[in-house]
Amino acid sequence: MIQVPSPPSTGIAFKPLDSVSRSFLDRIEAQDAKLKQQFETRLSVAPFLNRQLVSFQANKTRSSYRWFKYKEAFSAALVEELLQNRGVLNGHILDPFAGSGTALFAASALGIDATGIELLPIGVEIMHARQLLRCEFTSDDFAALERWRLVQPWRNSPVRCTLGVLKITDGAYPPETLESIERYLTAITDESPHVQTVLRFALLCILENVSYTRKDGQYLRWDARSGRRQGVKPFNKGVILDFDGAITAKLSDIICDTHTFEEQIGLFDTEQSNVTTGQLNVLQGSCLQELQRLPSNLFDVVLTSPPYCNRYDYTRTYALELALLGVTGDALIALRQEMLSCTVENRSKSLLEINPDWQAPVEAANGQMLLQAILEHLDNQKERKLINNTGIPRMVKGYFYEMACVVFECLRVLKPGAPLFMVNDNVRYAGASVSADLILSDIAEKLGFRVPLITVLQQGKGNSSQQMGEHGRKALRKCIYVWEKPQ
Ligand SMILES: C[S@@+](CC[C@H](N)C(=O)[O-])C[C@H]1O[C@@H](n2cnc3c(N)ncnc32)[C@H](O)[C@@H]1O
Repeated sequence: MIQVPSPPSTGIAFKPLDSVSRSFLDRIEAQDAKLKQQFETRLSVAPFLNRQLVSFQANKTRSSYRWFKYKEAFSAALVEELLQNRGVLNGHILDPFAGSGTALFAASALGIDATGIELLPIGVEIMHARQLLRCEFTSDDFAALERWRLVQPWRNSPVRCTLGVLKITDGAYPPETLESIERYLTAITDESPHVQTVLRFALLCILENVSYTRKDGQYLRWDARSGRRQGVKPFNKGVILDFDGAITAKLSDIICDTHTFEEQIGLFDTEQSNVTTGQLNVLQGSCLQELQRLPSNLFDVVLTSPPYCNRYDYTRTYALELALLGVTGDALIALRQEMLSCTVENRSKSLLEINPDWQAPVEAANGQMLLQAILEHLDNQKERKLINNTGIPRMVKGYFYEMACVVFECLRVLKPGAPLFMVNDNVRYAGASVSADLILSDIAEKLGFRVPLITVLQQGKGNSSQQMGEHGRKALRKCIYVWEKPQ
């Protein structure tokens, strides 16, 4: 049995449990132990895996990947490691939760064709701008960027364009920064469509840094200097960057990295770059809709990281960027509902109405004993008003049932013998460890995948302070699941 080292004790005392909760948790622990035994020989701690590799951290200094800090991304180095270890040198990869496109760009640079599905316009825009810079940007376009960097035309521009505002982004910038953004948006309208796209992308890359906000998983956190009401301890995000300096530095990075990339692969003729890199195709929408439209047996690899079941709300944390891209308040709410259920606000989706063929994944989730024990516990906690948010049981249920359908579709679209790699975290609610790795691997096996390996990151993740205070500290596994479609 693998042992994930526990995080150090914090000395926080935790509350004793009532007997009903204890008996629910005992059942969960028994089911968890049974499932762990089922996968015992396949759970393996991998020394090569570290937090840097499975997060955005390793992209921070990497050419092109460093432009937009997509906090929930994994690293290009991880994608390369997984593909090269597996001997995947060509073919076609799919990422149904493409985010900023790390899997797609890393695979494409290795000569592998890549298809991604992404729901949020911000991810799609990042991929679009990167693809444009890589394949279609001409030397005239680069000259225009260089002129913007040197001359800073926004500084003398009038304000004719206004920045879109959402309720949750109102007042996000110091007044002089807002004015500069609006001058910038006005000045870019004089440029060609390609240059406009890249200039807008550069702006997207710096919005958080010039604002009063910080992305904080579940929501946008506001600095006290914004004038927004604060909790007991006022929040200070540190330096808020000056607009002119931040945008000029970003344009420098983009110009520098794009030339470096072209020099690295020995090309300046952009057309030829398609010869060495794989084709890249992005589908905007929910993978619950898009996957079912893809043909069976098409892909050589699925490599992905879905949202974790951790209440992170991408529609809130990326609200500044979505507002700039013209997403309205109603559209934002609709996007939140279309996301894989991972926030307490997600209503349940009628999966069998989306696709009547999803009876099999729904039944696989119905028959997953650990999942059912967790759901019963969470419902009971909700009934007895012991849970800190009543949306948690619905979110956890939605997450696993929707993921079962995604797994079912991934199996269908993969070629026989092809692997699937999935990065995901376990979570914990109301004292119950939710072993997403075991639950999803069991569902995958029931649906027809082979599960040769669940690779565990050496250092388990800690718990939220609320979970620790009430239930003590337990290490949570962060894993890469390795599944295969049988031959
Ligand atoms: C963990 S992030 C993936 C990050 C990606 N691996 C990268 O390196 O940038 C999960 C992504 O899934 C997207 N997402 C959530 N629900 C979705 C859905 N129903 N269909 C497609 N994408 C979805 C989120 O917007 C987010 O970008």
